Order: sequence, then structure tokens, then C-alpha cells
Amino acid sequence: MAEPRTIRNLALAGFMGTGKSSVGQLVAQELGFEFVDTDAMIEARTGRNIGDIFTEAGEALFRRLETEVLDGLAARADMVISTGGGLIVNPANLASLKSHALVACLWATPATILERTRGHTHRPLLQDPDPLSKIRELLAQREKAYKQADLLINTESRSIREVAQHVLLQFRQAREKSG
Ligand code: S3P
Repeated sequence: MAEPRTIRNLALAGFMGTGKSSVGQLVAQELGFEFVDTDAMIEARTGRNIGDIFTEAGEALFRRLETEVLDGLAARADMVISTGGGLIVNPANLASLKSHALVACLWATPATILERTRGHTHRPLLQDPDPLSKIRELLAQREKAYKQADLLINTESRSIREVAQHVLLQFRQAREKSG
């Protein structure tokens, strides 16, 4: 029989603009958990914002920093972890998260993502003359990875509160099962 999962934390994954931070903060409040955000941790650790890291040091270094901050979370408990949109694309990062957290991936269509991220300048990957095509391209590349999460949650036509309630219910059930 498969070993029961250890679920001390909840991780939110998924593409930019799917609502990880907003949903995560609500869920953290409900659970009385600490809310942590991997991008914010990288910014605190380096003293630089994500845009500057991408332009000055490159995406490869950013991805290494993501893995490093993630490793630092593995022994902790009672956290809601909001992850950068590309973090679980690395299978080792997903495996690291699954060793201590239930991983819920939020999903939305390219059009909705465009709508939700329009005018935001802090996401280097979306600073593109044709952001919709860029979103489509990245989503297609990442779809397989996102489907490896424990839960895939469609956020289309659902409010942040509704998504949060759904995630909360799933998390509580998974925790009960994990014992
Ligand atoms: C990225 C998503 C961003 C941030 C970085 C790269 C991605 O996080 O980590 O700009 O590769 O999808 P959010 O998903 O929180 O915007």
C-alpha cells in the first residue's frame, strides 16, 4: 500500500494571474497559517526585484534561487506557500513541495490571464509586444507540468472567495486522509 502523504502545508501553483496570492492569503487567514510567497522570499534574500534579477542575472539564476528558497521551506509547517508561475515546471521543485505540502494548481484561460495581468509591469515574461501569444505559448509548454499537481482548480468564472473555499475544503479532506 502507498505510504500516506505528509501534509503540513498547502502550496499554490499555477500560471501568472491565476490568483495564487489572493487565494493564498484568504486561505492562510482561514487556517491560521503563515502566508509565504516564493517571489517575495527571493526579493528579500537578494535585495533585488524579480524584474531586475531577470534582466541583470538572467532567468537561469532566478530558477536556481526558486529552488533554494523552496528547499528552505521543506522542514517548516503551517504555511500557505504561493509559488511563482514557473516553479513547478521543474519536476524536482514539485517533488520537494509534495514531500510536505498538498499542491493545488490554479488554472485560467489565456484570455482571462491577459485580462488579469494587463498593465502589470512586474512580470518580466509578460513584457512582450504580443502578451496573449506569449501566455498561450508558455501555458502550452507548462500544461503537462501543471497537471502533475495534486489538484487542478479552474478559476474561470469563480470569485477569489469561491476558489479559496474550494481549496480549503480539499486541503482539509487531504489532511484528514493523511492522518
Ligand atoms: C513567473 C511568474 C512570476 C515570477 C516570475 C516568473 C513565471 O510569479 O515568479 O516573474 O515563470 O511564470 P507569479 O506567478 O506570482 O506572477
